[in-house]
Amino acid sequence: MPTKKDNVVIFDTTLRDGEQSPGFSMTIDEKLTLAAQLAKLKVDVIEAGFPRSSPGDFEAVNRIAREIKGPVIAGLARALKADIDSCFDALKPAKKKRIHTFIGTSEQHIKYQMKKTKPEALAMAISAVKRAREYVKDVEFSAMDASRTDRSFLYEILEAVIAEGATTVNIPDTVGYAIPEEFGRMIAEIKENVPNIDKAIISVHCHNDLGLAVSNSISAVMNGARQIECAVNGIGERAGNASLEEVVMAMKTRKDFVKVNTTIATKELCKTSRLLVAITGVPIQPNKAIVGENAFAHESGIHQDGVLKERTTFEIMTPASVGLKKNTLVLGKHSGRHAFRKRLEMLGYKLKADALDKAFAKFKDLADKKKQIFDEDLEAIVGEEMASAKQVFTLEHVQTSSGTSTIPTATIRLLKGRKSFTDSATGDGPVDAAYKAIERITGIQGKLMTYNIRSIGFGKDAVGEVMVKVDIDGDICFGKGTSTDVIEASAKAWLVAINRKAK
Ligand code: KIV
Ligand code: ZN
Repeated sequence: MPTKKDNVVIFDTTLRDGEQSPGFSMTIDEKLTLAAQLAKLKVDVIEAGFPRSSPGDFEAVNRIAREIKGPVIAGLARALKADIDSCFDALKPAKKKRIHTFIGTSEQHIKYQMKKTKPEALAMAISAVKRAREYVKDVEFSAMDASRTDRSFLYEILEAVIAEGATTVNIPDTVGYAIPEEFGRMIAEIKENVPNIDKAIISVHCHNDLGLAVSNSISAVMNGARQIECAVNGIGERAGNASLEEVVMAMKTRKDFVKVNTTIATKELCKTSRLLVAITGVPIQPNKAIVGENAFAHESGIHQDGVLKERTTFEIMTPASVGLKKNTLVLGKHSGRHAFRKRLEMLGYKLKADALDKAFAKFKDLADKKKQIFDEDLEAIVGEEMASAKQVFTLEHVQTSSGTSTIPTATIRLLKGRKSFTDSATGDGPVDAAYKAIERITGIQGKLMTYNIRSIGFGKDAVGEVMVKVDIDGDICFGKGTSTDVIEASAKAWLVAINRKAK
């Protein structure tokens, strides 16, 4: 991939490293929706998945390759012929495609995981790159666990894969072990010790086990790396990957010091982050840098006073630069389908006709209960519509009774296809009773791990949003539900989580 000296390639791995972590799995349609937004964000490379890992991953990569224009589409492949062949098959329709092949290079990985020797790993890496180059010009090689790899072996393998035609060499801190100064120095030493390194772009892929993924990535860039692998909201294996929005805004805000550019449309950052939350149902912490709810909120009197007098007293970047807008009153009871669709499109959501019909019906229903509808309300409706697209059971009716001297009771009616099922249960409170009634109908038992409730927008008539984390047979499933009735929102959230296991 041709790139200017001071341009850092943003390689997004939300759909691969991010999606493979527990609780973040997405349907193919959801992956396509997110990939379309990543293209609007102008990431340079979308790693769409790992085609050989499952037929679902293959199809997702293939559809993204066919439908998403703009970024390079990459697929992951182990250093095995069958993986590389399958990766190319999946990527075929893409205009710009990259095969990303990897092998563990540290003692721990070669000896204990692969049960091989260094010369065997080296030979596998060389033949993988050779095979990939028979298919495409753009080949990335990753030396997995590079930060714990014996340095002379790392130099040897990098030189060999570049000689074989790898155009990007990735240095992953797979276990999140590196410290920024050390990791930066490592990149500088790779530049000094790999004779043909100028023929490839150096990439980094940092995990966040010590909370240093962003710092390590920036330190690497300051020492010559020109690709960062990162994920929206920092999702990924274990503690996650470097957060895309953080690395991008660090380089933009401190361009005076880091001295590099990216092509990212930063005004799309908040929307992308919110879309991922809407799709997965996994919330981000309020104090998350760049995209958290409080990232631009000035609470203390001194801070508020300062910002009112002069923004730069306490603000290093503007909310507008990351696409954070003030609450806008958008639609009301009398708004039509056309205005509704147009507003959704402005927010970045393109729904298919049937999903649009359902979302519009929900909007009308909400507009009857609530006078003013804000962008956040629309996002909640769309998020719910996306989540319900894969619902086996849908909530038709919920009725609860509770009070200081009443046994809390819930009656629930669910639809499965055209069949409706009704059952009742008692519980510690109306939410507990509703969850027990749902369990009785679906036969799926879950353990509630976390339950969070918040209001979307302002006012006593605001929509309530409930997010739950449920342990179902050891798998963590997330669910989100919204309604002006918080019991209904709670039931919907539980049902979204349960549906992830329903057949
Ligand atoms: O963390 C890692 O090393 C990876 C590689 C496959 C790049 O995800
Ligand atoms: Zn990783």
